[in-house]
Amino acid sequence: MTAASRNTLNAHYTDARIAQAVWSAVRALGFGGGRVLEPGCGSGNFIAFAPAGAQLVGVELDPVTAGIAAALHPAAQILPESFADTRDADGSYDLAVGNVPFGRVVPHDRRHNPGGHSIHNHFIIKSLRLVRPGGLVALLTSRYTMDARNPAARREIASLADLVGAVRLPSGAHQRAAGTTVVTDLLILRRREPGREPDARKAAQADSAGAAGPDVPPAVPPVTSLTQRRLAALPPDTRPLPSVAAYDQLLRLPPRASSPSQGDRS
Ligand SMILES: C[S@@+](CC[C@H](N)C(=O)[O-])C[C@H]1O[C@@H](n2cnc3c(N)ncnc32)[C@H](O)[C@@H]1O
Repeated sequence: MTAASRNTLNAHYTDARIAQAVWSAVRALGFGGGRVLEPGCGSGNFIAFAPAGAQLVGVELDPVTAGIAAALHPAAQILPESFADTRDADGSYDLAVGNVPFGRVVPHDRRHNPGGHSIHNHFIIKSLRLVRPGGLVALLTSRYTMDARNPAARREIASLADLVGAVRLPSGAHQRAAGTTVVTDLLILRRREPGREPDARKAAQADSAGAAGPDVPPAVPPVTSLTQRRLAALPPDTRPLPSVAAYDQLLRLPPRASSPSQGDRS
C-alpha cells in the first residue's frame, strides 16, 4: 500500500492509440524484431501492442503494478525493481519504447547517472546505453527534457544518439487514459555507432560547404527527378506510385527565356 501511494504521481498509463502509433513508427524506421526494453512499464500498455518477434523486458518499480504486468503479459519478462538497479549489459537491447516517469527526483545509479539527471532524463540516457549501436529509443517524456534551461541532459543524449524525430503531443493527449493534461514529447533517437559522426554535425558541415561559394559543389545534389528523389528518401512503400512524369519532364526542360512582358532590365 505504501509503495502504491508513493507511486500515484507516476501511475499514468499511455493511451492505447499512442502506444500503437509508437510501434508503427519504430516499425517504419526498420525495427523488425528483437529484444525490447520498456523502462517503467506500468501494467504493460506498450507490451500489449508489441509486434510478433519482439521479446519484451519491462522494468517496474511498484510491486503490485509489476505483478499485474506479469500476469497480463506472461510472454514478457517483468523485472520488479527500480530502473536505477537494472543491471543489463550496455548494448543488450535492439529497441527501447515507453513512457518514462517524470519529476525532479534524481535516481542514484553510479554507472548510469553520474551526471545526476532527473528521473525522466536518467531513463532516456540509460535506455540509450542499454540499446545497441544502430538501435532505436522511442520514449514519451516530460517536455522539460527538451525545454529545460540546463542543457546537460540534452548534451549527454546528443553524445550517444542522433535525433530521428520528435513530436510534441497536445496537452489533451493523456486526458482520456491518464486524466492528466501534462505536456509530453515523443523523442525517437538512434544510438550512434562508435566512430560515426553525429548527424547534426554532418548537416552543419554540409550547410557551411554549400555556403562556401559558387565553386564548392552542393552537399545535396540538385533535384533532377522527383521520382528518383522520392524513392531515395523514403523507406520502402508498397503502395503504387502516382505518376509524376509530367513534373520530371518540366525539370528536364531548358530554362525559359524571360517573357517579353517582364521587359529586359539589363
Ligand atoms: C508514466 S508511467 C508509464 C507506464 C507505462 N510505460 C505506460 O506507458 O503505460 C511510469 C511508470 O514508471 C514507473 N516507475 C517510476 N519510477 C520508477 C523507477 N525508478 N524504476 C522503474 N519504474 C519506475 C511507475 O510506477 C509507472 O508505472
